[in-house]
Formats: sequence, structure tokens, C-alpha cells
Amino acid sequence: MSDSPAGDAPGFPTSRPRRLRYNPLVRELVRETELSSRDLILPLFVRHGRGVRQEIGSMPGNFQLSVDTLVDEVGAARDLGVRSFILFGIPAFKDATGSSALEDEGIVQQSLRALRKAHGTDILLMTDECFCEYTDHGHCGILHRRGDGLDVDNDATLPILAAQCVSHARAGADVIAPSGMLDGMVGAIRRGLDSAGFHDIPILSYAAKYASGFYGPFRDAAESPPQFGDRNTYQMDPANGDEAMKEVALDLAEGADMIMVKPALSYLDIIRRVKDRFRVPVAGYNVSGEFAMVKAAARNGWIDERRVTLEILTSIRRAGADMILTYHARDVAKWLR
Ligand code: PBG
Repeated sequence: MSDSPAGDAPGFPTSRPRRLRYNPLVRELVRETELSSRDLILPLFVRHGRGVRQEIGSMPGNFQLSVDTLVDEVGAARDLGVRSFILFGIPAFKDATGSSALEDEGIVQQSLRALRKAHGTDILLMTDECFCEYTDHGHCGILHRRGDGLDVDNDATLPILAAQCVSHARAGADVIAPSGMLDGMVGAIRRGLDSAGFHDIPILSYAAKYASGFYGPFRDAAESPPQFGDRNTYQMDPANGDEAMKEVALDLAEGADMIMVKPALSYLDIIRRVKDRFRVPVAGYNVSGEFAMVKAAARNGWIDERRVTLEILTSIRRAGADMILTYHARDVAKWLR
């Protein structure tokens, strides 16, 4: 390619890019990016109880479910063509160390066993590995005193994080996805899984996760907002791109098999840079706030929901994501059928 805007192509009128746009069949032949329900991962929220199906106000069409309704929900999504799921648990109780995350009868552990029993290997089950849903203070690990305040104790959290992952692997998780943005988390988890015999379970690391306002609706859904302060000492500054490359390099060196960038839409440049630089499987998380904005505008009749959703997800794929975590997964699977 030369440096001219048109590359090596001759100029107008020899070149007429519109030639490839007149015939819809030609447009399909030259389409560079394909969106498929095979690439989508649906996040689901599960809590204790029976027959629970409580819609999340800011996330229309998404529910807090109990294990029984979760099994039905996954079956219905699978019938539409969604095959991969990531589970978030809302525990029965919260304490300072998030001990309910490690219980054999914990909500995610129960869900994994029930889903596997009902749906076998037709579905792929991922688990979000973090403590913010399980701690009474809502931070992503154990706290310690730092200066005048409290902060997540990185190194003290690593062993319990590894224990949470092993517990989920034991209950049937296919892929482990740590989201706490702690230093050394991938290495600690890899060692934990390996020494428990789970060397074949891949790690999808939330390697570049930003301290973002776009997680608002999720924190209602998972009942996990921090009770004081914010997540700025562990999640990344939205202003930084080079730092994401460092996070990804470290996680790969520690054994991450796949890399997540989160949120997706305001960080498409990061997705592209990670893909170009590391050439590993990349996931983009189309987060709750991105979903809520589309739903809200569509409900007001301000945008065409289907068109905008497909455009957004295609842009995440085009940026370099191989897979997308999205609350739109059911709708998209329906539209793409
Ligand atoms: C847990 C976690 C969060 C999300 C995924 N895993 C919340 C947070 O970091 O505050 C957000 C997902 C979304 O907004 O859709 N750490």
C-alpha cells in the first residue's frame, strides 16, 4: 500500500468504490465482518429461591433468576442459538471476606451443577470470578488499611480468588473469567486450577477493565455497588491505552488464554490495539450501561433498536473482538436466525 488515501488503487474515475455497493449480493461477498450468535456470550444473574424471575429495571428483558428459572432461561436462549453464558451470583449473605463465594452450596456452584445436569455439554458455562457481589463492603476483595482509608488487599485476596475459581471449576465451569483487576490474579488462579487438576480449563482474563460509569445498571442487577469509595485503585483509568497493553502482556505471561477488554464501545481502540499487538483471542464486554442506553433510546422511539444493536455489535467485532459478552444476545440470535 502506498501512503495515498486510496492506497495503490487508481484514482477516480477509474476507481469507483460504489461499484461494489449497488448489488446486495456483491455487498455480501465483500463484507469483511460477520456477526454470528456463535460469537455471543449472555450474562445471567442468579440468586437463591424458587420461581424467581425479577426484571432488572435498568436492563429490560434481563432478570434476576433462581436456579430453576435459570435452567429454563438457558434452555430458551439455547433454542434461539445462544450457546455461551457467563454467570453472576447474588449470594444469600455477604460478609467482610465474601465467604459465601467459596461455599460448595454457593449460588453459582449450585447453578453450574443444575445447568450441566439439564443441558449437558450443549452449552458453555463461564463464571465471573470476583468478590464484589459477596462482600458486605462491595469491593472486589479483602480490605486492609491503607493511609487514612481502606483499600483492597491485593496479595491477601489472591488465595481466596484462586479458591473461588477451583470451587467453580469443580462445580462444572468450562471457562474461568476473573474480573477483579488484581495484580498477579491470573498467575494465582492458574496455579490454583493446575494443582487441583484443572489444567485444561481456560482463563478469560478481564485484563483491561476500566473504572467506568457504564457499569451502573449492572451494580443494581448484581447488588454489588461499593459501599464506600470507588474502584479506582484497581480498575484502570479511562484515559490510558498503553497501560492496557502492559496489563494484557502481564496476564498473558501469567497464563491467560483469552483477553477481555471492558467496556467495549468507548474502548474499541483498545480492542484493536490488543488484537494487533498480541494476536490472541479477544473478548469485548458490551456492558450494562451500553445496553441500557440503547434500550432507553429505543423505547422512546429515538433509534431503531435492531439496526443500532447490530451496528454496535458489528463494530466491536470489526475492532478485533472474536467474541462479545452482551445482554442483547437473545434478541440478536433471534434476528440472525
Ligand atoms: C464484577 C463485575 C462488574 C461487571 C462485570 N463484572 C462490575 C464492576 O466492576 O463494578 C460489570 C458488567 C456490566 O456493567 O455489564 N467486578
